[in-house]
Amino acid sequence: MVSRHVWIAALWAFGCGSPGQHIGDEIDGGDFVDAMPAPVLPSRTVVTEPPHGTVLTGDPLGQTLHVAGLYTDARSTLTVQVLADPTDLTTWTPIGTTTASEPSGDRFSFAVDVTPVSAGSERGRWPTGGILRLRVVDDTGAALPHDASVPDETVLAVVDATGAPSAWTYLTEKAPGSQDETTAYYAAIGAPRSLAAFQAKYGFGADDLGAKYYNAGDLGIGRDMHCRPTAAPAGGVACYVNNHGTFGGMPGDALARLAAGGAPLATVAMVYAPPLDQPNAVQFMVFAGTGKLTSHAQLDTHGDNKTVPQNCLNCHGGRSRYDATAHAAVGARFLPFDPAAFVFPSADPALTLGAQSAQLHALDTLVGTTSPTLAMSDEITGMWGPGDIFDAVYVPLGWSATPSDQRVYREVVAPYCRSCHSTFDRGGPSDPATFATAASFRAASSTIVARVCGGGPHGMPTAEATANAMFSSSARALLLTWLAAPGACAP
Ligand code: HEC
Ligand code: HEC
Repeated sequence: MVSRHVWIAALWAFGCGSPGQHIGDEIDGGDFVDAMPAPVLPSRTVVTEPPHGTVLTGDPLGQTLHVAGLYTDARSTLTVQVLADPTDLTTWTPIGTTTASEPSGDRFSFAVDVTPVSAGSERGRWPTGGILRLRVVDDTGAALPHDASVPDETVLAVVDATGAPSAWTYLTEKAPGSQDETTAYYAAIGAPRSLAAFQAKYGFGADDLGAKYYNAGDLGIGRDMHCRPTAAPAGGVACYVNNHGTFGGMPGDALARLAAGGAPLATVAMVYAPPLDQPNAVQFMVFAGTGKLTSHAQLDTHGDNKTVPQNCLNCHGGRSRYDATAHAAVGARFLPFDPAAFVFPSADPALTLGAQSAQLHALDTLVGTTSPTLAMSDEITGMWGPGDIFDAVYVPLGWSATPSDQRVYREVVAPYCRSCHSTFDRGGPSDPATFATAASFRAASSTIVARVCGGGPHGMPTAEATANAMFSSSARALLLTWLAAPGACAP
């Protein structure tokens, strides 16, 4: 499993996005009327290692962690503590001591190796695949921050990387239908019998908007996307996407097949026929590799839901539902294109992010015409700067107040929740499940932790590729410490 952060780092390396820029910088500018605010001195003590959110692999039993940092006094005893019982956030227990004895500028450095789980009887501290919380306290009992600029954050966590819990099922928030029901649905929307007939019906040709990339977010498949505004229905949008590779396969293989341009695994298609509030305003179709209309699509290795449009609705419209009486999808949505979730073929200069950013921006602008939710429009405008520059580290206003809010947005919400949850709009733009603000996310804390850290079958994220990527990333460490939620979140 390749970590998503590798992709993001790769995007930065290509000179896209602006990692240092925070919207919060402008908001916290201070009050210039009375006086300049006093500069906030960063804390002079800090735990530098292990960095918060460090991802480790292997059995926690016997794993050694190198704990290091800076402190102001060479005499104090510094104690490394972990939670003896992660479900009780008061059970801090010592696992090693040291002193800051090495002069380092105007401070002293410390370093000590600790073994959080040194015997089988201590496994509860850090269950396999779970997170471990750790802190360093001085001899007054004060805990050191892990980020010098955020003195009140003293608990850091490391992750034992793993796959998502084996008992989870995927794409089952919207229940599967049946082959007969899909046939009735296709009849109700007048689905073309073949991909060629679909292309002809909506006028696809040389001037399509398009992009080619590997979707490393919710799907894990190579994508050859084609979209265009439609004349009939007036004001509508049609898209089809050839999927290349195999679900659960390697990105390199999918990208090679995408570049070779042979027969796709399958083609999925959608049409927007406004207005959005009508049944079947957003329609879904699947064409087999041969181009023939087909009634099922397996979109992951599990195949818990292969029926059209029910499996589609799990991502394309969080509050959508399928009405079997009217054979209609209600409340479905197009989804924005998020280049931070994509990997671009590196061999072909025409297919880099830079080369495709104008087309991707145009695709997002087209999605912006499909009556998106407020959260989706904010995302689309936020991601794209002038000159089609993609901002990989965009953070909305509601998540900009503190550095840790921003980090949780960038490393948890944006990669693992946003694509689906920005479509949640039952009850208007204020539906808290759009996770539009840090406050709305915090307010749902217990439900969120129960879904992310629960045994299943209805875990979150509800897509296999997303769930596996999240469980092998820093996300669970950041999420649980930020929410101060108990538990080790082991699968
Ligand atoms: C696991 C989540 C997921 C499922 C399930 C899913 N999609 Fe999508 N789909 C996406 C994402 C994310 C995008 C945005 C483009 C991208 O990331 O490749 C998208 C985009 C599309 C597009 C381009 C238009 C747009 O909304 O941007 C089409 C067409 C499409 N999907 C068809 C389907 C069909 C048909 C199904 C059901 C058979 C389906 N999708 C199921 C995640 C999903
Ligand atoms: C692949 C799409 C997808 C992803 C990714 C996803 N969710 Fe969900 N989530 C859903 C769907 C669909 C529902 C069911 C909503 C419904 O039917 O009303 C849901 C429901 C929930 C609920 C129940 C709340 C409610 O009001 O219904 C919570 C909590 C939740 N998700 C949290 C998360 C978190 C946290 C993340 C990211 C770590 C996440 N989800 C990622 C699709 C997704």
